[in-house]
Amino acid sequence: METQALHLLKMEGKERRTGYLSIASGKGGVGKTLITVNMGRIIGKNGNKVLIVDGDLGLSNIHLMLGITPSKNLYHYFMGEVSLEEVVVPIEENLSFISSGSGVRELVSLPPTQLKNLIYRLQEYAERNYHWVLFDTPPGIHSDTLALVSSSHIPVIVTTPEPTAIADAYGLIKVLNQEETLKEFYLIVNKVQSSEEGKRIFESIRVVCEKFTSAEVQYLGSIRYNPKIIRQIVNQNPFEEGFTKELTHILTKLPLNIKPHPAGFWERLLTKLRRRS
Ligand SMILES: Nc1ncnc2c1ncn2[C@@H]1O[C@H](COP(=O)(O)OP(=O)(O)OP(=O)(O)O)[C@@H](O)[C@H]1O
Ligand SMILES: [Mg+2]
Repeated sequence: METQALHLLKMEGKERRTGYLSIASGKGGVGKTLITVNMGRIIGKNGNKVLIVDGDLGLSNIHLMLGITPSKNLYHYFMGEVSLEEVVVPIEENLSFISSGSGVRELVSLPPTQLKNLIYRLQEYAERNYHWVLFDTPPGIHSDTLALVSSSHIPVIVTTPEPTAIADAYGLIKVLNQEETLKEFYLIVNKVQSSEEGKRIFESIRVVCEKFTSAEVQYLGSIRYNPKIIRQIVNQNPFEEGFTKELTHILTKLPLNIKPHPAGFWERLLTKLRRRS
């Protein structure tokens, strides 16, 4: 049943335009980067073409996790030094990676005609090559992160059972809801001891969101604390079997029939970045 749902994801991806999904958290170290690369791999293995972006101004450490160090990033592309093809690093079949460097922020300072042209090319490149673009974001409520997350079709929030992580996840949802009028959120609880613990944490976040915001939080599921992962990351192989299984189940709960916004993702992002700069 799980595979069937992911197959649907693939079909949807082929019929509609590129989907943009971002992974964010209030507190750091909750597992965003690990979830992003594993999510990319699972979606890719189901026949979708996936691009992972560290929407992290170079701090995401995706490259460290994967053991690759791209010499050029989106910033160099925006500066006209390289083509997009030159900054995209293939990881495996259907899965590629692009480092944003300070690229996203740099967009705002470009002259309008150059910018329009770039936005058009980015949009066109993504539509031509990818079903999904996944953004790994830095923790917290930095304005670039708020712009990225609220421009995406699917905003995924990650927390762990730590009270500070839960409080910060709520804080992030609240800011996105109040400042960016984002309503729908998808929650993953990582590093749990049991699925009951995950459900309890989701429920506590859902209740405060319902009381104090207009945000609607959907529960995607939990991932167990798994000490094997640390060893694998040391060996720069972030793909662990148990983690993959749990994340595959989580992915079947994502909305498969996204209605694209009237304006394109990149245009929307730019408008938001400008407003916030
Ligand atoms: N389910 C898990 N079980 C055990 N360890 C985990 C699990 N998920 C993540 N980790 C570990 O937690 C640490 C932080 O993970 P990761 O770098 O993905 O977090 P992050 O949210 O991207 O951090 P940052 O906010 O700094 O970008 C890593 O050492 C990773 O191996
Ligand atoms: Mg990270």
